[in-house]
Amino acid sequence: MTRVLTVTLNPALDLTYDVPALLVGRSVRVGAVRSRAGGKGVNVASVVRALGGEPVVVAPGALTAPDPFRDGLDRLGLPYRLVPAFESVRQTVAVVGADGATTMLLEPGRPAAEGTAEAIETAVADELTRADVLVVSGSLPPGLPHSLPARLATLAAAHGLPSIVDVSGPALHAAPESGAVLTPNADELSELVGSRPETISAVAAHGRRLIEAGAGAVVVTLGEKGAVAVTPTGAWLAHAARVVDGNPTGAGDAAAAALAMHLADKVDWPAALADAVATSAACVLRPVAGEIDLQARARWRDTITVEELT
Ligand SMILES: Nc1ncnc2c1ncn2[C@@H]1O[C@H](COP(=O)(O)OP(=O)(O)OP(=O)(O)O)[C@@H](O)[C@H]1O
Ligand SMILES: [Mg+2]
Repeated sequence: MTRVLTVTLNPALDLTYDVPALLVGRSVRVGAVRSRAGGKGVNVASVVRALGGEPVVVAPGALTAPDPFRDGLDRLGLPYRLVPAFESVRQTVAVVGADGATTMLLEPGRPAAEGTAEAIETAVADELTRADVLVVSGSLPPGLPHSLPARLATLAAAHGLPSIVDVSGPALHAAPESGAVLTPNADELSELVGSRPETISAVAAHGRRLIEAGAGAVVVTLGEKGAVAVTPTGAWLAHAARVVDGNPTGAGDAAAAALAMHLADKVDWPAALADAVATSAACVLRPVAGEIDLQARARWRDTITVEELT
């Protein structure tokens, strides 16, 4: 079974409030309240489990008990290792009206306690001894350095293990030299290179430059258009099986989970890319990030067209 270690540096407890309608400046009674452990690496771990892998979640957590984020991981039934770091784990609130209109309130991460980066490196180094592949996903809270995702990928390489670094901004800028597989979406790639690649061949050209800078491979996700993979030996475009009208949040996390399962062995890139595109479309079908429709994935996986880019 493929053991996937996922690292979520800026976790959150995701709350959902159902309301009849959100009226700005008025008191609104909340109907149902739901909460779920969130953060991109948690979504990756949930999808890895659905795909038959064995995930472990590493994340900074609360310094004191009770920690509702930890309780949320328990409810998801995911194995985890939390590094004490925050007074409390941040929350996000999705206020959902009866008509489906959703307003998101996103707390910033609380500052991580001194020594958290080193404690995470120690925890990851230990967990890597029982892992086949590492995935580091998402943003960083105040107090953790932008170089941390790249440092964790370098640690994985020292253990002879592949890694995926799915980050943005300065953390993405620091990532190529770690040798990790990078999985930016179109916006993250544009921000990194300073302009929006208008064509598929421009996307591939930017991917090749990141490979020259040290990246092991680059998978650029293009939303409903599919994804491009660039490796030292070739480049491919996989078209989405179908444009799904659903919830695209977490689609990139599902793609990263599928890729992680392939990275553990010798990678057949066209097959891995097709799987990432099928798995992420199967995630868009489900209303909750971290879940996928396995039957849709199985149906779509063999129907995806993968085009070699020259
Ligand atoms: N509407 C859609 N229909 C079918 N497939 C989709 C759709 N949206 C996204 N996908 C698939 O999901 C993959 C990842 O999507 P996207 O590029 O939006 O990732 P992302 O922005 O990183 O998402 P997130 O960070 O929220 O997880 C795409 O490469 C594509 O294969
Ligand atoms: Mg993403």
